[in-house]
Amino acid sequence: MAKIIDGKAIAANLRADIAASVEKIVATGGRAPGLAVVLVGEDPASQVYVRSKGAATREVGMVSLEHKLAATTSEADLLRLIATLNADPAVDGILVQLPLPAHIDAGKVIEAIDPHKDVDGFHPVNVGRLASGAPALAPCTPTGSLLLAQSVQTQLSGLDAVVIGRSNIVGKPMAQLLLRENCTVTVAHSRTRELAAVVRRADLVVAAVGKPEVVRGDWIKPGAIVIDVGINRVAAGEGKTRLVGDVAFAEAKEVAGAITPVPGGVGPMTIACLLRNTLDAYRMRGA
Ligand SMILES: NC(=O)c1ccc[n+]([C@@H]2O[C@H](COP(=O)([O-])OP(=O)(O)OC[C@H]3O[C@@H](n4cnc5c(N)ncnc54)[C@H](OP(=O)(O)O)[C@@H]3O)[C@@H](O)[C@H]2O)c1
Repeated sequence: MAKIIDGKAIAANLRADIAASVEKIVATGGRAPGLAVVLVGEDPASQVYVRSKGAATREVGMVSLEHKLAATTSEADLLRLIATLNADPAVDGILVQLPLPAHIDAGKVIEAIDPHKDVDGFHPVNVGRLASGAPALAPCTPTGSLLLAQSVQTQLSGLDAVVIGRSNIVGKPMAQLLLRENCTVTVAHSRTRELAAVVRRADLVVAAVGKPEVVRGDWIKPGAIVIDVGINRVAAGEGKTRLVGDVAFAEAKEVAGAITPVPGGVGPMTIACLLRNTLDAYRMRGA
């Protein structure tokens, strides 16, 4: 029976560490780090994310600056706001909540963010720095996933790691982070042949597929570490729904050495790592 990795508790510890660092900065006369979150439109899920990011930011003693813009905001106006935030010395991190309305080119907006303030780690400069092994602001979900794997085994060096999924937000940066930790990394995706056999070789599996319980228990090598990034809402009868991951948890926990639950695994780590990136951005700017 696997150890269940408590992402909620690990994220709470990380947030407490960040809060202590911020408290120290402020107590010694420093300015509290500031995170600007930009939301365009009224997508309900995005509104929830932005609210919880704002609350988490304030909870660790940082300044949360929320910019809520109408869905009809032009790309030019959004780019002007980004320029203002780039120039604002009180802003250490800038996060533009995705997805953006269809008339706005998200790539252009991400590229307009000062890479030093790019706390999502999506700017091509940070993507390149991560790939080349230079210090970088790395995307929050894969960073959180790495911390969860390291909570089980500090040294991941030499492990066979399989990342399922190759998105720019999760799969690709996850692979880069694991490579940096000296894992032997395989990136699987929708065209991978014999996926089950590929996963069976892995000492560490990171599932970022977006398909409910696609990874079965008998795909898991006994004793492997399983990090489930997936968040899928499925019917639970009587008109109710529940969240499940990309891994069949009940099966996999019988075989794995350690596994993250959904919810309560990777999810809580994402915001904690966003706050960590904001603190890193603050420090890197020498504020
Ligand atoms: N916990 C969090 O905070 C957090 C944050 C972000 C995302 N997520 C969740 O993580 C999951 C992945 O997110 P994402 O943004 O990376 O999704 P995405 O952009 O849709 O990428 C999914 C990836 O999975 C691959 N894939 C799809 N079906 C597959 C299959 N049957 N076998 C093998 N590979 C398959 C795709 O391959 P192709 O490239 O070949 O299409 C793609 O690379 C989602 O459930 C999302 O909700 C969670």
